[in-house]
Amino acid sequence: MSCALSRRRFLAGSIAMLGASYSRPVWSNAAPSPLPIPTLIDGTSGEPVDLKIRSGTWSFKPGVETPTLGFNQQYLGPTIRTRRNSDLNLHYENTLTEGVAVHGHGLHVPGNVDGGPQLEIAPGDRWQPALSIVQPAATCWYHSHTHGKTGQQVYRGLAGMIIIDDEMNDSIALPRRYGIDDLPVIIQDRTFDARGRLVYSLDDASEDGWLGETVVINGAIAPVANVPAGKIRLRLLNGANARFYIVAFADGRSFHKIASDGGLLTAPVPLTAMEMSPGERCEIIVDLSDGNAAELLTLFEDEFDEDEEGAVGDLRDLLRRSKKPLPAPSLTLKVDRALSAHTAPLPETLATINRPKQNEITRTRDFLLAMDEGGGKGHGAHGGHGAMDMTINGAAMDMNVINERVERGVWERWRIRSNQGAHPFHVHGCSFLIERMEGAAAPPDQQGWKDTVVLDDDDWSEIIVRFDHPATEAHPYMYHCHILEHEDRGMMGQFTVS
Ligand code: C2O
Ligand code: CU
Ligand code: CU
Repeated sequence: MSCALSRRRFLAGSIAMLGASYSRPVWSNAAPSPLPIPTLIDGTSGEPVDLKIRSGTWSFKPGVETPTLGFNQQYLGPTIRTRRNSDLNLHYENTLTEGVAVHGHGLHVPGNVDGGPQLEIAPGDRWQPALSIVQPAATCWYHSHTHGKTGQQVYRGLAGMIIIDDEMNDSIALPRRYGIDDLPVIIQDRTFDARGRLVYSLDDASEDGWLGETVVINGAIAPVANVPAGKIRLRLLNGANARFYIVAFADGRSFHKIASDGGLLTAPVPLTAMEMSPGERCEIIVDLSDGNAAELLTLFEDEFDEDEEGAVGDLRDLLRRSKKPLPAPSLTLKVDRALSAHTAPLPETLATINRPKQNEITRTRDFLLAMDEGGGKGHGAHGGHGAMDMTINGAAMDMNVINERVERGVWERWRIRSNQGAHPFHVHGCSFLIERMEGAAAPPDQQGWKDTVVLDDDDWSEIIVRFDHPATEAHPYMYHCHILEHEDRGMMGQFTVS
């Protein structure tokens, strides 16, 4: 059978101006909705941050109430701000009728507060992890990690952003006014039924995972944000269950990527388009001092045909070859000259990244992510696409099995590839550095701290990684594919650090 995960590797290049006309969504005759900005909760004082896991209703489309889940809110959760060398105390309360585990994705914290599937909060229960934040400034997130139900619970809304600040980040001239010139941008896609309810089924998901039809940004369809006529920082989070996006601006304008999953890059990287895989974060700076609106596109990477492997330098050419009209923008940034603007030049250098020497890397582990025609076990018992077995090194996730045992404080090389298709591999409890991506050197914008790496079936992706915090057998860390349907079907493993 053919590999359904048809995916071209999209490499950033220069894009010409795009003159095509948009295919506007049908409900676009209504006034565009403003970009929802999740409430910012300052956790730096150590005061507990209350997060109530709840059900709600949210209007993705005007006048249509959709049943959802959220933390405090109707859909998604507040943005939690914390700081290096401070304590973050989270007080979760699960008011749902099903169990929920909540993981802090990207946080360097021990396994017993990491929020893996062992730490499921029963209905009516509370969980109060005390997190000691020791890592550099970064954009992280928290989301459901419930055994077998992560995809469904994230899809309905159980996700939110965590912003870590530090002195280094404070000392450089970057926009930092939350909701004004420093915007959380959570990109997801969702499918709605005729009554506006979210459609989701793990069993009916394709091999590619659950791909929604409509992009939502912070829970809104094609919203507009009014921003100052200056530099705007977007904290982009690919919070989709399975979708790889190509992110660009409709007018082809360039932007700078300043941070990856684990924090600032060594220097801003100019780009006109970039790929984002599920779970990945990219902070970018876009300059709106010309006063023109900037329209953010989130193209579905899987919709471009696979024939033309390799770098794509021209987004218009890519769209022409794929015979697709330019899609409507997912988010429009409109300039409001009344707002005071951040106009300082972008710093030429950002963070220092110390890579270990090759002789400090003490051991290599290989991980093969596999999708195979299944024996009809597990979630796939009803047949259909769900019948595929999803494994890593031949084993599906088993809560009672520790798959790897890692020594604390020691650099390792992990090599990852798949038997078919592209997968975003994520590791808990660390940030790592990418040495190779699909057999090639990591591009400049992927050379910072990361906790997700894309791999495929052509060649190995290689990361170097070190764990500084413990994870016991009772509370191990996870590594897994961040296509949530792959994860829920078993493409995940557990490891201890001691
Ligand atoms: Cu964002 Cu183990 O996940
Ligand atoms: Cu994680
Ligand atoms: Cu996968």
